[in-house]
Amino acid sequence: MSTGLIILILTIATSGNCLLSELLDPEERLSELGKLNFTGIANKFGYMSEEYELVTEDGYFLTLFRIPGDATRPVLLVHGNTPTSDCFIIRGNDSLVLTLARQGYDVWAINLRGTRYSRRHISLNPDTQPSQFFNYSFYEMAIYDLPTTIDFVLQETGQTQLITFGHSMGTTLFYVLGAEKPEYNDKIKLCISLAPICFLEHVTGLLVTPIKLASVLNGLGIILDTQELLSYDTTTPLLQALCLQPAGYALCIEGALFPLFGYDTAGLENEFLNTLFGHFPGGTTRKILNHLAQVSNRNVFAKYDYGVIRNRIVYNSSEPPEFDLSKVRMRSVLVVGQEDLAARETDVDRLNASLPNVVEYLVLPYRKFNHMDFIWGRYMDTNFYPFIFDLLQKYT
Ligand SMILES: *[C@@H]1O[C@H](CO)[C@@H](O)[C@H](O)[C@H]1NC(C)=O
Ligand SMILES: *[C@@H]1O[C@H](CO)[C@@H](O)[C@H](O)[C@H]1NC(C)=O
Ligand SMILES: *[C@@H]1O[C@H](CO)[C@@H](O)[C@H](O)[C@H]1NC(C)=O
Ligand SMILES: *[C@@H]1O[C@H](CO)[C@@H](O)[C@H](O)[C@H]1NC(C)=O
Ligand SMILES: *[C@@H]1O[C@H](CO)[C@@H](O)[C@H](O)[C@H]1NC(C)=O
Repeated sequence: MSTGLIILILTIATSGNCLLSELLDPEERLSELGKLNFTGIANKFGYMSEEYELVTEDGYFLTLFRIPGDATRPVLLVHGNTPTSDCFIIRGNDSLVLTLARQGYDVWAINLRGTRYSRRHISLNPDTQPSQFFNYSFYEMAIYDLPTTIDFVLQETGQTQLITFGHSMGTTLFYVLGAEKPEYNDKIKLCISLAPICFLEHVTGLLVTPIKLASVLNGLGIILDTQELLSYDTTTPLLQALCLQPAGYALCIEGALFPLFGYDTAGLENEFLNTLFGHFPGGTTRKILNHLAQVSNRNVFAKYDYGVIRNRIVYNSSEPPEFDLSKVRMRSVLVVGQEDLAARETDVDRLNASLPNVVEYLVLPYRKFNHMDFIWGRYMDTNFYPFIFDLLQKYT
């Protein structure tokens, strides 16, 4: 195991301890874009940004950002596991958000429950009631956060359909939604999946070890009552202290991020770290990580596995029910990077064969395109956007 990963694990393990971050005052090392939030970055580049607060059926407050454009062309961006909406804008002028805005789209960016801007609930307190507040996986995000947001965007724009972009676990949510609430298939004009996460049989690199150890790690998490992980308030300052110093690139990027998600040194320059670590990570939960690991280990795209006894109570069967992908009728585009160690081409082949309405399945030609290049890669404008904007023209 690399030193970077060990340090990262120590960081996560000690996330509750804010003392170190206070001593080092790492915020001083951030760039201007590292310090601004979504709205601030949009404004800096001359775009107006609106902030909305929605409440889900089960009581979570979600912050939704919008850069208003042509209301007949709404686009909703859904981030993955641990970033926030910010990941789609931190590349500034070259970001997906501002590139879409420049082309006139009405751009909306969700912040999923429990992450930096959406860490609130009508009655549960995340700090004093973590085991209740963080008791969700990507399933709840899919059946509550997405419908609330999609319906709000459609209502505000007066449209019946919207275009969606999901990245990583943000794509998973659409497969769950289409299967569990099939009426939402009709509300999506085109669902663009960047680095699709559904079947996880062939995940490789440093993710393999934590996946294989997931049931032990999860058991440890239960004993230590660890529900929230990689939160913005506690983990991000520690990563700033570790990663924004001379050895930071070797430690955090070459030692951890690349071994986890694929190597692309050209796509992530050292100078960008003081922006990146102002926004990443934004928070996740033990239950989400365990659920993803279950999908990989059981090699089935199914609901959360509580174990035989609880499954009988929750699902009336010893195994958790599988999601029925044949119901995901929305028109879909799948986009894969060749250097992505998490969303692997072989697994996406199986997804492609399982979804009934894939109109394009694209493997980007740039060989080093990794999992994170879709959201903050340095050369998205040449390696990625031309393919996407062609498809947007063709299908919308
Ligand atoms: C973003 O930053 C601006 C300026 O600091 C602040 O007014 C706004 O409330 C922030 N938005 C959110 C959602 O935190
Ligand atoms: C962003 O792009 C726009 C349009 O291409 C340009 O006018 C503006 O100067 C750019 N801003 C920065 C800070 O690069
Ligand atoms: C978490 O949610 C499950 C089902 O959604 C429920 O059975 C369980 O009691 C909840 N646990 C806590 C601590 O709220
Ligand atoms: C539980 O499953 C059994 C067998 O699959 C079925 O006969 C029974 O009706 C189910 N019970 C409920 C409450 O759905
Ligand atoms: C995707 O699935 C469709 C339908 O099953 C199939 O015709 C097509 O060849 C698949 N594409 C790839 C690249 O595997």
